[in-house]
Amino acid sequence: MDHYHVSILGSTGSIGGSALEVLEGLAANGDEVFVAALTSNRSVKELAAQVRRWRPALAVVADASRLPELRRELEGYDGGVELLGGEEGINRAAIHEEAEVIVNALVGGAGLVPTVRALEAGKRVALANKEALVIGGNLVTELARDPDSSRWPRLMPVDSEHSALFQALGDHPDEEVERLILTASGGPFRKTPVEEFPSITPQQALRHPTWNMGKKITIDSATLMNKGLEVIEAHWLFGLPVEKIGVVIHPQSIVHSLVEFIDGNILAHFSVPDMRLPIQYALTYPQRKKMVVGERLGIEELGALRFEPPDEERFPALGLCRRAVETGGTLPAVLNAANEVAVSAFLAGELSFPGITEAIGHVMEEHKVVDEPDLEELIAAGAWAARRAEEMKTGISGRSQQ
Ligand SMILES: NC(=O)c1ccc[n+]([C@@H]2O[C@H](COP(=O)([O-])OP(=O)(O)OC[C@H]3O[C@@H](n4cnc5c(N)ncnc54)[C@H](OP(=O)(O)O)[C@@H]3O)[C@@H](O)[C@H]2O)c1
Repeated sequence: MDHYHVSILGSTGSIGGSALEVLEGLAANGDEVFVAALTSNRSVKELAAQVRRWRPALAVVADASRLPELRRELEGYDGGVELLGGEEGINRAAIHEEAEVIVNALVGGAGLVPTVRALEAGKRVALANKEALVIGGNLVTELARDPDSSRWPRLMPVDSEHSALFQALGDHPDEEVERLILTASGGPFRKTPVEEFPSITPQQALRHPTWNMGKKITIDSATLMNKGLEVIEAHWLFGLPVEKIGVVIHPQSIVHSLVEFIDGNILAHFSVPDMRLPIQYALTYPQRKKMVVGERLGIEELGALRFEPPDEERFPALGLCRRAVETGGTLPAVLNAANEVAVSAFLAGELSFPGITEAIGHVMEEHKVVDEPDLEELIAAGAWAARRAEEMKTGISGRSQQ
């Protein structure tokens, strides 16, 4: 019997829910599972239901104004849970003494500080929150480095592409790697003519062809920003320069990424598009355990798989991400924060679809990059970029719809 003592940050989200399903499966298979802490942003009813099911030591709602509601929801509950509100509560969940592994399933820049705190406290982090690496990759990977192990150690990727790369890379040293190839589904607008982009609605953009995910990552997938963020994520996780990280469109989302070695051999990772697989792998690593939830890939039924290059003119987000990581310093934090604001504005009908990348490009242009920033400088750069993107969105939306 193995034991899993876990905190789940963002347990009410898509990845958080999948992580709980994996833990359910591990528990059903006889492993000892203890959930130390669960957190949400505003979803109080769902968090309360999770508390009743999992009996954690701590439950946190990031929006502190909802704490009284959470208390009411849990009236009569006899499990003795500590209830907290606010960012500090999330940070407490990230370092909870009864958790060995922290699943970071938060969305956006809110995931950075808890990742830093968890690593500082010596926890293993199963990281779905790619934004933490986009903003503070240098800081986070420095904290995660283990002097006794060549490549990571305390930071396990949950993103399916990075889990795939991790598995295909094995112990091969960097010198043997020609390039990493991230696959992208291409999103719902892979074939949409660029002239139609200004009239794309949030409802259309939220219809992802192969994955069922939270809203922000679904829009990021439609703009290909998600793939750009993943290029930055791969750069930090695997320590390879951005020129060695390619992207290929693979509409079926069956091959999750590939590693090309210097001798011309390419290793690909196949599975069903189901985040519960990389979550299980991150939790049980270095062991491989029998799949506890989900379906196996019927490889005989697949038929042809397609691969094609991305169209970077129609989808400028990839270029913006490369520019951000090549420049470094505070620029990736600025890109990320501007994107978060632009995506929310698009979902609220305040910005057109092409306006998302346009706004980000403008904010990046204006930014005076700080080299080698510390955590406070990264947070300040993100706050500045969010303000600028807010200020800009009206003008951009008007321009791009003309
Ligand atoms: N979904 C996927 O299949 C997938 C695949 C690969 C990688 N990822 C990455 O995984 C992360 C999570 O994605 P998701 O799709 O699971 O997102 P999601 O469904 O929107 O869930 C986000 C979770 O974080 C909480 N949250 C949101 N804003 C917060 C804040 N400011 N402070 C504290 N908590 C906050 C949410 O609480 P509420 O429920 O109260 O809103 C929810 O529990 C993202 O970084 C994404 O890029 C996701």
